Amino acid sequence: MISMEEVTASAPGKCILTGEHSVVYGLPALAVAIDIRAKVTVKSYENGATLIHAKQFNKKVCLPLKPDRNLTIDKDLQPIYVSVVKTLEFLKIKDGVEVLIDSSLPEASGLGSSAAVSVATVKAVSEFFGIHLKESEISTLSFESEKIVHGSPSGIDNTVSVYGGGILFKRGRILKVKTSNNIPLIIGDTLKKRSTGGMVSKVRENYLKYTAIFKPILAAIGKISLQAKKFLEASDFHKLGELMNINQALLESLGVSSIELEKLVYAAREAGAYGAKLTGAGGGGCIVALAPLARCQNIASKIIEAGGKPYITRITDTGVKIE
Ligand code: PMV
Repeated sequence: MISMEEVTASAPGKCILTGEHSVVYGLPALAVAIDIRAKVTVKSYENGATLIHAKQFNKKVCLPLKPDRNLTIDKDLQPIYVSVVKTLEFLKIKDGVEVLIDSSLPEASGLGSSAAVSVATVKAVSEFFGIHLKESEISTLSFESEKIVHGSPSGIDNTVSVYGGGILFKRGRILKVKTSNNIPLIIGDTLKKRSTGGMVSKVRENYLKYTAIFKPILAAIGKISLQAKKFLEASDFHKLGELMNINQALLESLGVSSIELEKLVYAAREAGAYGAKLTGAGGGGCIVALAPLARCQNIASKIIEAGGKPYITRITDTGVKIE
């Protein structure tokens, strides 16, 4: 197989504006790609093996491409390994690859870092062998490793990371949403890690216990997403912010907010955000605030005072790409 010396691909993280958790129950969610990216570089390696070097975990391991049953793989590196193996299997390639990961996205925080890494890995590996996969193929292959990290994910993270921009997502169906890239999104990281799978299971337990109560709450969140899409398209950020606030209250009722998240949400609102809510699975991780440009720095300062780490970011239309 003819391959290039090295190929680097990058993919964006994502931010769910409305609809996390209800999306797992087949209702629509509104998400956007953000301009914080994961970069993956692929080079040639010895046949039948892969060398994975993940800077964010400070880990480097060599693994066989045909794993036997006794192989134990580091939990942090397993999804990257699965992305490499699945892509090579799909391409019917047996050559080894070295994979270097350099991600600026915080891990396990609700910004889709694992999906961005996986999407960029699939793209870099395939392009390294001169094969241009379709966006849908990249999304399907990266979803395989998402299932390993998150249990039964909706697929929203890998989808947004592949296509970029704004997306209304429902049961794997995607509708591109026109957005203005000029709205700043202020992310506040509580710096508390949590597992998406764990939070999804927590909602599932409560849903089974209180089905008649949870169903209408999830349905209301689904309606918020449909309405939010219209406000995002119309650049009516004031109303979009109001819907984010309502969504936050409903997420708290599902049991996925936390004192750390609430502190950041209130800090952002009091500093002039149109709206603020947790983003992703909750329980820790990040909040997202929507605000006019002039108030961003003030909101970022208030997030720091409330114990969080701010990122001022923007929506990006650029999904996965070759660097
Ligand atoms: O926290 P994240 O980035 O993994 O986002 C999870 C979003 C959920 O709706 C809670 C789960 C899913 O698979 O859609």
